[in-house]
Amino acid sequence: MRRRDWLRTATLLAAPPFIRHARAADEPRFALGVASGQPRPDGLVLWTRLTGDDLPPQVPVQWELAHDEAFTRIAARGSEDADSRWAHSVHAEPSGLAPGRWYWYRFRALGQQSRVGRTRTAPAADAAASLRLAIASCQRWDHGHYAAWRHLATQDLDLVAFLGDYIYEYPSSPMAPRLHKGGLLRSLDQYRARYAQYRSDPALQDAHAACPWLMVWDDHEVENDYAGTHPSTPLGADMAPLRAAAYQAYWEHQPLARAQRPRGADMPLFGRMDWGRLARIHQLDTRQHRDGQACPSWPRTSGGRLVREADCPALDDPSRSLLGAAQERWLAEGWSLDRPWNLVAQQTLMARAGLPDQGRWTDGWDGYPAARARLLRTVAERRVPGVVVLGGDVHAHVVAELKADFDDARAPVLASEFCGTSISSHGRAQRGWDAARAGNPHLLHARSDQRGYAAFTLDARQLQARLLAVDEPLDATSAVHEQARFAVDAGRPGPHRA
Ligand SMILES: [Fe+2]
Repeated sequence: MRRRDWLRTATLLAAPPFIRHARAADEPRFALGVASGQPRPDGLVLWTRLTGDDLPPQVPVQWELAHDEAFTRIAARGSEDADSRWAHSVHAEPSGLAPGRWYWYRFRALGQQSRVGRTRTAPAADAAASLRLAIASCQRWDHGHYAAWRHLATQDLDLVAFLGDYIYEYPSSPMAPRLHKGGLLRSLDQYRARYAQYRSDPALQDAHAACPWLMVWDDHEVENDYAGTHPSTPLGADMAPLRAAAYQAYWEHQPLARAQRPRGADMPLFGRMDWGRLARIHQLDTRQHRDGQACPSWPRTSGGRLVREADCPALDDPSRSLLGAAQERWLAEGWSLDRPWNLVAQQTLMARAGLPDQGRWTDGWDGYPAARARLLRTVAERRVPGVVVLGGDVHAHVVAELKADFDDARAPVLASEFCGTSISSHGRAQRGWDAARAGNPHLLHARSDQRGYAAFTLDARQLQARLLAVDEPLDATSAVHEQARFAVDAGRPGPHRA
């Protein structure tokens, strides 16, 4: 027995039994809330994680899924063992459900019951459908409060796509409006504690309980600007143990399927789902499989920076990929040609935003221009309908036209892009975006001065987008207003003001 365990046991034995029991019963077991994800026509994933220091290695957890909020008509129920090796997380996968239906769910363990969450299945593959979707990203805890989540939880959404930077790995400045617990994340226990801190926020818990989520990650779930197997720290650290710890904690804290559980430093994340006859949603992973950034600053071997094309021939090397060869092929072969919309849920801005005199940012799609052109040329050649790229990462609401050649003002618009601003992470100076827009006429809108998220309504004829912004990011109860409104018509690529 380790010394700490022995001490705990000794303390428990010494305490009178009634105090021991009172403590165990009072300890909240569902303090991190509930979540659901990955809706399919016949199933989905239900998530929770048990809390408390005194949990045994395995705890049976009962779950229930009902047709009504009062749980009078049960649709499915089951039991999962929450295991200490996976942080007592629960990933239940009810199956055989009816398509296109709302459900309510809850968990029970150790004499306690969780809150109730609401979720839904996807429409049947051949059903006419509409979709209300929100995208969100970049919720840095120590930069502000989650008024954006508070607002989102009140909207009547079918689906939330979270596009990366669910946590940040940094320690906090003592001046921050709220503080990260602990220092720079390097170990599994540290990543777990950071997720638990973020998930303690009531507004975030409400947003998870409101509807199912689709999850993709970006860099800060592991380390700033890491690229595949390349760390961005200059000391040549081994990426594998860091990835293994960070990926495991990510899986443990998200409504991801059991089949996605990481093996060592690898985790299957990219995938696609259909929303009836309306849309195919492609979820990409631009972190795990990418090549290193071009021309990193010495002594680093990777990491983002601004570089001019003339100073960095590797930028245009066609062999470099942001998705990796296997994911590129999988995407090229998987576009839906018979649905009006192909939504691409991924991490970062796809449209060119760099300027010749200032250079291009090498960590985003601007750092992998040949891979971007390959993707967009496939869209053109195969006449893929309704491609709408959704992203985050840049902490700005950006709306853009996507082209295979951004230098040619007359090149046809092939697809539309909506990059959502951060939930709470600071944005860069607005004048930088104003300059980027002046040199990149395909950027129709770029605002980095406000935090928030974007909400979309889609039917077979039109996609309507609302860019939402928080009035006061340091106030958890702040109001939210509409910053701008755009639309995309089916069969006509490119956003226009609405
Ligand atoms: Fe971010």
